[in-house]
Amino acid sequence: MEWTREKRYLKYKDWDAQTLLNLQTQAATSPYQMHYHVHPLSGLINDPNGFSYYNGEYHLFCQSYPFGPVHGIKSWIHFASSDMVHWHYLGQAINPDSELDNAGAYSGSGLVHNGELLLAYTGNHRDKNWIRTPYQVIAKMDKNNKIVKDTNPIILPPEHVTEHFRDPQLFEHNSKYYIILGAQDKDTKTGEIDVYESDDLKTWHEVGYLDFSKEKMGYMIECPNLVFVNDQPVLIFCPQGLDKSIASYDNIYPNMYLVGKNIDLSQAKFTPAQKAPKDLDDGFDVYATQAFNAPDGNAYAISWVGLPDCTYPTDDENWANTYSQVKRLEVKDNELYQHPLDSIKSLRMDHEAISNQAHLKDHTSNQYELKLTIQPDQSGKLFLNADSDLKTGLILDFNTGDSSRLIIDRSNVGPKVNPEYGEQREVLLDLHHELNLDIFVDGSLCEIFINDGKNVATLRFFANPENQTIAFDHDLEYDADFWKMMPIM
Ligand code: FRU
Repeated sequence: MEWTREKRYLKYKDWDAQTLLNLQTQAATSPYQMHYHVHPLSGLINDPNGFSYYNGEYHLFCQSYPFGPVHGIKSWIHFASSDMVHWHYLGQAINPDSELDNAGAYSGSGLVHNGELLLAYTGNHRDKNWIRTPYQVIAKMDKNNKIVKDTNPIILPPEHVTEHFRDPQLFEHNSKYYIILGAQDKDTKTGEIDVYESDDLKTWHEVGYLDFSKEKMGYMIECPNLVFVNDQPVLIFCPQGLDKSIASYDNIYPNMYLVGKNIDLSQAKFTPAQKAPKDLDDGFDVYATQAFNAPDGNAYAISWVGLPDCTYPTDDENWANTYSQVKRLEVKDNELYQHPLDSIKSLRMDHEAISNQAHLKDHTSNQYELKLTIQPDQSGKLFLNADSDLKTGLILDFNTGDSSRLIIDRSNVGPKVNPEYGEQREVLLDLHHELNLDIFVDGSLCEIFINDGKNVATLRFFANPENQTIAFDHDLEYDADFWKMMPIM
């Protein structure tokens, strides 16, 4: 089917129910579908939005286009959970049905205030000549999950930005309210993070662009996100078009982070503790990660596993993308670590302990966790979701000796996924050290936590669902624990 603009922006009410039901069935029955991660019920999901804790539950909203695997007119859909592992779907949350968001309810965030959850988002408005105005809007959710949108925007685009001005993160800091926004400067056409301040959540004034780097951050910054981790500010952001000499990356657009020494938002000044931004994820497909500071004192993050302007094999099945699991953030020695939640252990079933033998498993069911410790001074290849002859599979090629590194290779496993951005990713490791891997596979999603979360590599891969072998290419010294994972949806 051809996705004309007219079709992508058709009002939701003009789609018929049977079409939506067919799309839901197609997504639910796909062999590539995830079963213990938040995934689309139909169509496409992209950025996580409004990730928060409110009214005794964690809330997560997703950018969604329910009618196909394309970036059509966006809405927010809603999930809630008591442990950030067992999510239940609560339906459409913010629909693109007002004048302010007539071409999409774009990304944003959540803040609990006066017994309500405030959802700050970008109303993507287009006039009849298709000229875009991004309005920053607040919608309020009550304890019955009823959402009412404000009728007036809280922030209009200032003179000095282009139409690219979106993705508000609303938060409280030092007894004031702040909104940070991704922006493109009108004169320089560079990516910026614009800071706004308010005493009362009603009147906002612009503090200015956040001063966080001497370097130019590409032509646009999407989804800026500030959290405090172990008392240090951490800036997570997506600088599109970033020069690779400033920070290296292989994906079409990077999702970067910077750990800070301190931040003075009233002066829009972030003092980095690192020389340059770093990749938040060392895999192939992470973007638009959203984190928040939860009342339990931790910072949690969740990522879109998918990239703008890229296609994926399930587009042919009319659905696209998924989310990572929720990760707990930690800062040690000015580096960001990402950890699986303890609560994900509640999904483990059928434990098996395996050591040293090349062959680990034949029938994984494609929903599993494999935790491995590989001894120092070993090298080899670990095949995941392989056929029994190890002719195809997702390959983790490791060396824990003189040239310590882990290469993740998806060149030989099912249909290619955006091969123009490379089919391998490399993570450098400490020399002569043991290697810890905590690997989560769920259908076509793989998340690899490397050395207790020092690095994480997340990717999609599309192995033949029958290929369920896990094996090394030879015997070596390791200890492994394997669990099947219980489905949540
Ligand atoms: C990032 C992004 C955001 C925007 C949203 C629209 O993936 O482009 O900047 O708000 O997606 O769906």
